[in-house]
Amino acid sequence: MDGILMEWGGMLLRWVHIITGIAWIGSSFYFMHIDAALRATPEHPAEKGGEAWEVHGGGFYHVRKYLVAPEALPEELMWHKWEAYSSWISGFFLLVWVYYLSADVYLIDPAIRQISPAMAAVYGMGGLALGWIVYDFLCRSAVAKSDVALATVGFALIIVMAFLFQQVFSARGAFIHTGALMATIMTANVFLVIIPNQRKVIASLLKGEQPNPAYGKTGKQRSTHNNYLTLPVLFLMISGHYPLSYSSPYAYVVVGLVLVAGAVVRYFYNERHSGRGNKWWAWLVAALAIWTAIWISMPQTSGGREIMGLSDLQPVDPIAGLPKSPAKVADVISTRCAMCHAQMPVWPGISTAPKGVRLDHPEFIERYRDEIRMFAGFTRAMPPNNLTGMTDEERALIRAWGKTRTSQAD
Ligand code: HEC
Repeated sequence: MDGILMEWGGMLLRWVHIITGIAWIGSSFYFMHIDAALRATPEHPAEKGGEAWEVHGGGFYHVRKYLVAPEALPEELMWHKWEAYSSWISGFFLLVWVYYLSADVYLIDPAIRQISPAMAAVYGMGGLALGWIVYDFLCRSAVAKSDVALATVGFALIIVMAFLFQQVFSARGAFIHTGALMATIMTANVFLVIIPNQRKVIASLLKGEQPNPAYGKTGKQRSTHNNYLTLPVLFLMISGHYPLSYSSPYAYVVVGLVLVAGAVVRYFYNERHSGRGNKWWAWLVAALAIWTAIWISMPQTSGGREIMGLSDLQPVDPIAGLPKSPAKVADVISTRCAMCHAQMPVWPGISTAPKGVRLDHPEFIERYRDEIRMFAGFTRAMPPNNLTGMTDEERALIRAWGKTRTSQAD
């Protein structure tokens, strides 16, 4: 029963997370686009903030920006903050659900570091908090006087954190934590800087005072950081499904390349929407960065090594002493699954273990017990189209293979 709950819970959380994420990133893109589209008009000149006309869904919209604040506050003010908060909250639960509750499958790789699930969660949460504290410190320091200097140091910070996560977590866990750190920075920017500043502005307006323009400026700086982080964050969030993206020892370099690619693509659109022309070179830079990321991943597969003229992969065997699956189960898995789910798959068209799931040693098989039972015991999701001819008796054997890690009832 618990196995079913884990599976459905994970799916539902992901569903909510994607919806809230779309709402957040959608509104972030929308406001960046408006900002870029604002034009000075005689009625509303640039010093005031400019205005823009839009057409959508059968109506026309007339948007005006008020730098710092309007002279009088309207009665009703629409805030945009819950998109961000609910994205972070759902993402946090998803992280706990997938990575902390199944830490031994997704987060802890004994070949990298043998830690307890509790310790892994401490490293994970600690890393997120530490990354935010350092970033926030940098934004308040002298570095922040120059946007370029701040962006450069922030960029380095994320790469260093990616590197550190790689020292304690599985490759996949390290990538998701790097993405979670960026998303935490983005949400904390909204929660701890942008919204409080906005409230301070409103408070001074209500008192009839002239608000300090620094509040608006800092808010905009953080909001721009958020904008440039959105595309790289999304890449890292889906990376878990694409093992080649994260499995290289230089995965932290891949993080840097993805940051560059995502940021220059955002830059292209920000410039274009502002009417400053098409900076086509941005796409060239993005393509170069992604191509380099692909190149970095190539030595992870036998085929890639061949193209690069490297000798074949050294097999990575499990650490001695890890629990092993029963011999009967291991026999079934090695005849029905391991041709695809191996470090060096032999199935044509499969170049690396699908989803990073290696089933070529009894230790790995034991590690993926819950997943194997879900995909090949209770459902017939694997092997795909039953390509390797798994029998009903074999599926029954998989179902009967002990209790699931989380399940009491079979
Ligand atoms: C013909 C190759 C092939 C064989 C044989 C095969 N798989 Fe897979 N497996 C795949 C592919 C491809 C995917 C990725 C599917 C996708 O993209 O969603 C996958 C994904 C998986 C996943 C991860 C699913 C996820 O989304 O997290 C598990 C677990 C899995 N297989 C278990 C098994 C088991 C157990 C067997 C044997 C009973 C098996 N596979 C046999 C190709 C294979």
